[in-house]
Amino acid sequence: MRATEIIEKKRDGGELTTEEIRWFVEGYTRDSIPDYQAAAWLMAIFLRGMSPRETLDLTLAMADSGDRLDLSPVIPYAVDKHSTGGVGDKVSLVVLPLVAAAGVPVAKMSGRGLGFSGGTIDKLESIAGYRVELSDEEFMQQVRDHGIVLCGQTKSLAPADGKLYALRDVTGTVPSLPLIASSIMSKKLAAGANAIVLDVKVGSGAFMKHVEEARELARIMVEIGSGAGREMVALLSDMNQPLGCAVGNALEVREAIETLRGGGPADLRQHCLVIGAHMVRLGRQETGSGALDEAIAELADLMDNGGGFEKFRELVNAQGGDVSMVDDPQRLPRARLVEDIPAGADGFVAAVDALTVAKATLELGAGRARKSDPIDPAVGVVVRCKVGDQVRAGDPLFTIHANDGAKLAQARALLEQAVQFSEGEPQPLPAFYDTLYSEN
Ligand code: URA
Repeated sequence: MRATEIIEKKRDGGELTTEEIRWFVEGYTRDSIPDYQAAAWLMAIFLRGMSPRETLDLTLAMADSGDRLDLSPVIPYAVDKHSTGGVGDKVSLVVLPLVAAAGVPVAKMSGRGLGFSGGTIDKLESIAGYRVELSDEEFMQQVRDHGIVLCGQTKSLAPADGKLYALRDVTGTVPSLPLIASSIMSKKLAAGANAIVLDVKVGSGAFMKHVEEARELARIMVEIGSGAGREMVALLSDMNQPLGCAVGNALEVREAIETLRGGGPADLRQHCLVIGAHMVRLGRQETGSGALDEAIAELADLMDNGGGFEKFRELVNAQGGDVSMVDDPQRLPRARLVEDIPAGADGFVAAVDALTVAKATLELGAGRARKSDPIDPAVGVVVRCKVGDQVRAGDPLFTIHANDGAKLAQARALLEQAVQFSEGEPQPLPAFYDTLYSEN
């Protein structure tokens, strides 16, 4: 086979065979196909798209490019979750301990944040000592002993995706639905899940800005999962305003702990209950119509009686984190400068733009514009209003947590533009737009 022929075939709108896709992915992973040919191939896919069969073949080729985790010795039927990334998305921190406390073991590898979207691993690292890098043996041992593990992705997991994603990032080929779907699903399949809950975010603070494109991405991922024999649920959830209130690493850990103790913002609590209940239902392989409502009630009890919090504590302890920070979140990293931004006039909140809040948080140093940027765990923004709220002049709209006066001023300037007001009461935003299921 020749790389040029495969590139030309896709460029001219042809459908690639399973063997051609595998040959190309393997060749690029082994460095026998250079970046310039892989870039041309990606651009041809970006422009021409891929059939469902090609998309599944690409996913499987990337999943097979490194180690595939076999969780079956410790979890007979493994359930995983993935969020396409949003602002204030600390759902994994809440949901994983809850689901594990309900007796469904969870073993998850998570990513770091890039751009406006935060990463679970960065958030966990605000707990002193928390180890995000575990060997395969440690990973398996922890699931066996504690029924929960939450760590970073190993380099040997779908290395083809790591290389291709980095190349897409610099060749204008990230926003392609088959490329995004195969990239996400290759990592999930390699990580050993039998069933996967996808939280596909829609809105200004998400990759997908509109419900229709998010539904199409979700549909493609569900189709890939079904094609690979996995049980799938995909929820389309709102990301026009931040989820919960806290945006920033230690602030989000604090809010996750509050939520696990039965408090926290109502939207975050409800979101976590729904995602968690789908995981419980899949993990127990329950299909009855009442199973979801029962699981929601069970997880709500585990929030209110501290069962989920105890499991989070156990997780942090098992991974070497300082449990005193979990018991007393005031001990988590704290910023030196804390400033409220007040409302200028009375009115109803019509929009709290998630992307603007994310930009302000990036300015403060809570995220990274480039992969190598350091992050400050202490800084961020707490959103003090939600769409539909009535506010009076002087009420706080945001609280900024900063470690640098100039950065605080930049964040303030952005946040002053982030809220839109209306005179009449606006409709609150829906939490979820749709749910898609596999038909296995
Ligand atoms: N997240 C991924 O893992 N891959 C993509 O292509 C986009 C988002």
